[in-house]
Amino acid sequence: MKCYQHAYQKFISQHPDTLHCAPHSHHYWPDCTREAQLAYWDDSAKGVDHKWDIIFGERLPDVQRRLAALLNHPHPEQFVFASNTHELLYRVFSSFAPDQPLRVLSTDSEFHSFSRQIKRLQERPQFELVTIPTEPFASFPERWLQAVTQGSFEVIFTSQVFYNSGVVAPPIDSWLPHVGATTLVMIDGYHGCGAIPTDLSAIADRIFYLAGGYKYLQAGEGCCFMAVPKDCTLRPEYTGWFADFANLANPQQAQVAYANDGMRFAGATMDFSALYRLQSVLHWWERDGLTVAKMHAYVQQLQQAFLQVVDELKHPQLRGNTYWLRIYPIMGTF
Ligand SMILES: Cc1ncc(COP(=O)(O)O)c(C=O)c1O
Repeated sequence: MKCYQHAYQKFISQHPDTLHCAPHSHHYWPDCTREAQLAYWDDSAKGVDHKWDIIFGERLPDVQRRLAALLNHPHPEQFVFASNTHELLYRVFSSFAPDQPLRVLSTDSEFHSFSRQIKRLQERPQFELVTIPTEPFASFPERWLQAVTQGSFEVIFTSQVFYNSGVVAPPIDSWLPHVGATTLVMIDGYHGCGAIPTDLSAIADRIFYLAGGYKYLQAGEGCCFMAVPKDCTLRPEYTGWFADFANLANPQQAQVAYANDGMRFAGATMDFSALYRLQSVLHWWERDGLTVAKMHAYVQQLQQAFLQVVDELKHPQLRGNTYWLRIYPIMGTF
């Protein structure tokens, strides 16, 4: 694989003696994101209050199309943006009436945005949470399937790749067919998106998919997104005025109305510079023919080389600590 250090000079030059390994953390930002940040400033200077025409009319639809292409999702207009995933996932939970029973199935390895919020929601009288431990990893697929099949849930929430181990969740087609049609399924894809090839085409109309730009999409914090199933009619209580942006100037109905696409889960005014940065990364990848499949294959090659060195060292503790790397597909395919 071609070397891409030249594309990260601004970050690398600040850390010339560091090899930045970010498998569980935040990617260096490529130089194109700096130009994108400045482009946001320039669009603001040029457009002033009319910059929103550029943001909503050009930039956002382009990022929707690029994300849909990245994830093989057939409906770009179903992607909605927010500064963080927490905002988006809470909007989904706020669509359920607090005085009605809400049963949620999840794992013990979800990111804090979910685990803290869900802990707080457990204080609601009719709230029930079933948590499946991901360890031991080898038996997790079987235990997860059993939980999915045996329970009756309003919401199922799981990561695509668990942030605290790098272990990939069981393939969704191994359990989704066992989920009742009325159960809302939300996948937190943040730790997989941009790192492992992800094809949502067969499940785009069935699941909510959450992710963001701060990890493998290399765009920094501030641009998270959720793909919403088409024809979703949920009415989040936690709602902002962007959620029916197109109808703001029209006479308002008695009941609060929502957009008929992903925007129904939108919030309110936010800084879109991170969206510009994400656009620049996706644009660069397209221009240079960089695909997630190529990058993933390269990383897997490095992983094997790393394991070989560990083997050669014959250190019992090191070998033990990489055991799960060998038996379980770390970042396989979704
Ligand atoms: C799996 C996962 N979900 C979500 C997030 C981020 O959540 P938020 O955007 O709510 O801060 C992270 C880490 O940044 C993560 O690893």
